[in-house]
Amino acid sequence: MSSSTFGRRPFLVGSGLSLGALLTLPSLAAGAAGSKVAIPLAKLETLKSVGGSIAIKVKDKLLLLVRDSATSVRAFNPVCTHRQCVVAFNAGDKKIKCPCHGSQFDLDGRVIHGPASRPLEAYPAELVNEQVIVTL
Ligand code: FES
Repeated sequence: MSSSTFGRRPFLVGSGLSLGALLTLPSLAAGAAGSKVAIPLAKLETLKSVGGSIAIKVKDKLLLLVRDSATSVRAFNPVCTHRQCVVAFNAGDKKIKCPCHGSQFDLDGRVIHGPASRPLEAYPAELVNEQVIVTL
């Protein structure tokens, strides 16, 4: 299955990860805007190498995770800001592309080609001890 394929399955596309496999971490500080979620890299086969990506659903949020370097990962809401199609990462040119009307976004979520005019929602993400940590 292509890592850019998004199905109708309610949880995870591209790996065998289940809700039970996710570890929800408490917020680090009182008043923190979001909660941290740790996803074992071992459960995200396509993120093990640079250029890989995967779409998963965590805490009722759809996430696009992109392995952009040996030491980092990016996380986005993959819903296009134009008309809500689901975008996918293209490792060939390192752009996030919408299949519906051609919008393109860079790895900071910024629009580099319309018709979308607003950036993708990006979430803080990091690789720590073989886990992807995303702040939602
Ligand atoms: S919905 Fe993405 S470009 Fe139109």
